[in-house]
Amino acid sequence: MWHSSALLLSALIHVSLQGPHQRNLLKNLLKDYNRMERPVANDSHPLTVVFSLSLIQIMDVDEKNQVLTSNMWLRMSWFDHYLQWNQSEHPGVKNLRFTTDQVWTPDILLYNSADDDFDSTFKTNILVNSSGYAEYLPPGIFMSTCNVDVRWFPFDIQKCELKFGSWTYDGWLLDLQMNDADISGYMPNGEWDLVGVPGTRSEVFYECCKEPYPDVTFVVTIRRRTLYYALNLLIPCVLLSSMTLLIFVLPADSGEKISLGITVLLSLTVFMLLVAEIMPATSDSVPLIGQYFASIMIIVGMSVIATVVVLQYHHHDPNGGNMPKWVQLVLLQWVAWFLRMKRPGENDDPERPPCSMEDPSMLSEAVQRNRLGGCSTSALGDPQLQAILEEVRYMADRFREQDEAESMADQWKFAGAVIDRLCLVAFSVFNIICTISILMSAPNFVEAISKDFV
Ligand SMILES: *[C@@H]1O[C@H](CO)[C@@H](O)[C@H](O)[C@H]1NC(C)=O
Ligand SMILES: *[C@@H]1O[C@H](CO)[C@@H](O)[C@H](O)[C@H]1NC(C)=O
Ligand SMILES: *[C@@H]1O[C@H](CO)[C@@H](O)[C@H](O)[C@H]1NC(C)=O
Repeated sequence: MWHSSALLLSALIHVSLQGPHQRNLLKNLLKDYNRMERPVANDSHPLTVVFSLSLIQIMDVDEKNQVLTSNMWLRMSWFDHYLQWNQSEHPGVKNLRFTTDQVWTPDILLYNSADDDFDSTFKTNILVNSSGYAEYLPPGIFMSTCNVDVRWFPFDIQKCELKFGSWTYDGWLLDLQMNDADISGYMPNGEWDLVGVPGTRSEVFYECCKEPYPDVTFVVTIRRRTLYYALNLLIPCVLLSSMTLLIFVLPADSGEKISLGITVLLSLTVFMLLVAEIMPATSDSVPLIGQYFASIMIIVGMSVIATVVVLQYHHHDPNGGNMPKWVQLVLLQWVAWFLRMKRPGENDDPERPPCSMEDPSMLSEAVQRNRLGGCSTSALGDPQLQAILEEVRYMADRFREQDEAESMADQWKFAGAVIDRLCLVAFSVFNIICTISILMSAPNFVEAISKDFV
């Protein structure tokens, strides 16, 4: 590339020195020149064109429309049999430049172009030296179709092919050869790291004909830089998914459990929309991040359902019936044991909690009421004592019933708490497994992390 600009500079200096020689030479060379004529000495011989490119910049990778936009300089060189001259006969004329309208040029095109006007090269001059060596370096902004596979987004490596070949000449007429792509002038991109631009030359034979059709394919290999997406998509998602666990820590009495779950679900939906905007609408492969979001959403959805169950247990109507035996066995015995949870007051169960602290005062109050009820205060006869006993027994029964209802409600509440804790543990494990297994399944996860974060 620099070599050619040096040529250009030296040529500019010479132009001022050149006089009639260049004029005569140009007149002689172009007198009988036909630009449709393949410039070879023998028509049976192929004309060798060496092709290469310099990648300057990757301007855009459009995942949605599957288009790669890149800034490149093509580089073609060949020997033009009719553009040779004797330097000593034309002193000072080291090289000449022609426009593409004046001399023969290979009709090499980007086969997988996605541009409005298929060939988007800028037609520069062709530089020819006295041996007839022609050099043509058309620059251009190329839009090419690229099968952007977002399976591993945002830890993906894309391989975009750029297939060049002559549109009309076969391999016997135009022998296309390849030189390695030049990336010395490449301008780094913020979103993509250039891995390499390997090229291959291949020959295709069609059924109709014997002659080969050569083409040169460069594969622009780029790796997505993950930092941006990690900051804007992954970290919020991981945060939101850990928020899910908070649902199970929040006390049921706060009344906010469900709304927290729904809020997390909504925020996830917002992030999913962001992802969907970038991704192509394809069902071929679900992007990694889509899988991750979907699993987190399933987790959150299940958390909301589990929370409904927890709340249903927590606010269970004590008169609504006993807890089924198997639920008692599973939740209150096994699961509670497994989670090392103890019912409040389980330890002092044997001595049975006293009916109530205000029991004596209530009793005395009852006695008082009895007294006001017209009984004589001085002496309590046998029937009065009996009546008091009845009253006391009645009250004791009532307290017992109350206690039983309370203990039943406590049992339901405890069952709710056990489910809460169980969900906390289960969803934490599920969450961690999901995060690790999905994100780390990307083939170049380690590479991306080590290059982008460290
Ligand atoms: C052109 O090339 C062919 C094959 O190499 C050869 O047979 C033929 O004699 C050549 N013709 C001339 C005029 O040199
Ligand atoms: C170039 O021209 C000079 C002078 O006319 C002559 O001596 C020389 O042989 C020519 N060289 C070739 C390769 O034709
Ligand atoms: C013309 O350029 C080619 C390729 O760089 C080179 O091999 C050849 O020697 C050059 N001819 C002259 C006369 O400088």
